[in-house]
Amino acid sequence: MEQAKVEAFVHKALGDIGSALTASLVVIGDKLGLYRAMAGAGALTSEELAARTGTSERCVREWLAAQAAAGYVEHDETTGRYTLPDEHALALTDDDSPACVLGGFQGMTAAMRAAPKVTDAFRTGRGVGWHEHDPELFIGVERFFRPGYNANLVTSWIPALDGVDAKLRAGARVADIGCGHGASTIIMAQAYPSSRFTGFDYHVQSIEQARARAERAGVAERVSFEVASAKTYPGKYDLVAFFDCLHDMGDPVGAAAHVRETLAPGGTWLLVEPHAGDHVHDNLNPVGRLFYSVSTLVCTQASLAQEVGAALGAQAGEARLRDVVTKAGFTRFRRAAETPFNLILEVRA
Ligand SMILES: C[S@@+](CC[C@H](N)C(=O)[O-])C[C@H]1O[C@@H](n2cnc3c(N)ncnc32)[C@H](O)[C@@H]1O
Repeated sequence: MEQAKVEAFVHKALGDIGSALTASLVVIGDKLGLYRAMAGAGALTSEELAARTGTSERCVREWLAAQAAAGYVEHDETTGRYTLPDEHALALTDDDSPACVLGGFQGMTAAMRAAPKVTDAFRTGRGVGWHEHDPELFIGVERFFRPGYNANLVTSWIPALDGVDAKLRAGARVADIGCGHGASTIIMAQAYPSSRFTGFDYHVQSIEQARARAERAGVAERVSFEVASAKTYPGKYDLVAFFDCLHDMGDPVGAAAHVRETLAPGGTWLLVEPHAGDHVHDNLNPVGRLFYSVSTLVCTQASLAQEVGAALGAQAGEARLRDVVTKAGFTRFRRAAETPFNLILEVRA
């Protein structure tokens, strides 16, 4: 037993406990508008921040000290004032910025609330369905992924696919499977007004949300959202897209086989999955930590709760994804693009 190793580990674990608690404080700061009130406001006292947000000064004072200890805000020891740096404000107040982290905190604190169900699922192996989570997970996930889709989907991911951008400009049929709240579907519909889009998801409440969002975005006449599973959705499409959902499905090979049946001749399957190497040791980094953890609480459970229960996991890696699509009869599979968080794969018959 090395005492220094014990101390180093306990030190690290204490940091992790603090990080987990910081997550709740970020959600509170977001919901109460504390970050928005601090953004661009310069150095504020707890009294000023409380007055601007209609909140209790004593609670705000404690929150500010915790945020300063976490490195989220800066504390001036001579004036006792706190500042939210502009760079942090971008990540903590601007939902449209690719730097925005709010959805991650909202979604992941919601995922943590499923811990009792997941503990039980470890014993039974029966999983926890996506629909069984706190609804804040669905809102947080959409909020977490949308800035990345805004920044990349139309400007780089679709143009990286062979001939797809031209087809969508001319007018094509597109299906977005496992569409959740429809962020990706709506972004594509806004960019390609000659095409028609249908988002499918088995989760009824997500489809209702997606319909409302399409109305608000003014694209409802070209976009429809329907409740259907990845193995049963109807129609024929020039482009079928899966954004961060194949690994959540119980039967990814069955879903892939259904994509093959629903692709029009010359059609393309756009498969977006979390960025991962093929082996556990490739993924032992901050991104892997995040995705393995959410996968333990959410993704693996979601798949185990469905038929087959293949449970690819959120860090499946390109080789296992290739195996899934090959088993379904696809012959062409190519990494078309990538970001630190996403693998963008082009699959064709
Ligand atoms: C991580 S969320 C991603 C949602 C959305 N694509 C996005 O990027 O924001 C996974 C989605 O897959 C859906 N899903 C899981 N299994 C499914 C299945 N078998 N058929 C259709 N949708 C499924 C869930 O309901 C959920 O909306």
